[in-house]
Amino acid sequence: MEAYLQEWSQKPPYKTEANFVPGEGSLAARVVFIGEAPGRQEDLQKRPFVGAAGKLLDEMLAAINLKREDVYITNVVKYRPPHNRDPLPEEIYANAPLLQKELAVIRPELIVILGRHALNNFFPSLKISQSHGQAKRLGEQVFYILYHPAAALYQGSLREVLASEFRRIPKILEKINELSKNEKNHNEKNGQPRLSAAEEHEVAQQGELF
Ligand code: URA
Repeated sequence: MEAYLQEWSQKPPYKTEANFVPGEGSLAARVVFIGEAPGRQEDLQKRPFVGAAGKLLDEMLAAINLKREDVYITNVVKYRPPHNRDPLPEEIYANAPLLQKELAVIRPELIVILGRHALNNFFPSLKISQSHGQAKRLGEQVFYILYHPAAALYQGSLREVLASEFRRIPKILEKINELSKNEKNHNEKNGQPRLSAAEEHEVAQQGELF
């Protein structure tokens, strides 16, 4: 991973004046948080979520007794888009291998999606306004969809929604553990084949997991 990050910091996958802002936290984390792209503060400090949205994220983590070091925090795009514009599809595409590498190394129990860009990276047809607060499963991976902390800062009414949905993270982790224990027992007993990733995608699109 270190070598991989080194390479990316020296050679961005496209032309950009911005600094490389890699993910940070524990590589043994049970939970990975994925935001959109670095903002001004993140670009200056070369660290994810260190501005106003990061402060809110830190507060919400503290409310569930977690510190930044216990989790892993990253972004879909690792370079600040000029003038804080939305990341372009080609930027998301060009950054995807690094996000995949982070997830492959960490193999988190839960991926917490923060906002619509991270959401559409994994679930292109879902809308954040309709799917926030829901857990979904895609293949083996469980995702939990939340509003982006910056959205909650701009739009005060979302703040309590985000905070209360965020507080469900420990319960969701518990459920994932129960689910994986049950599945293991079930598969050991019956030797049932698992659903294919495509079938699970269907399931994920249909309704709430928890
Ligand atoms: N917003 C993001 O999506 N990511 C950051 O790192 C900071 C703000």
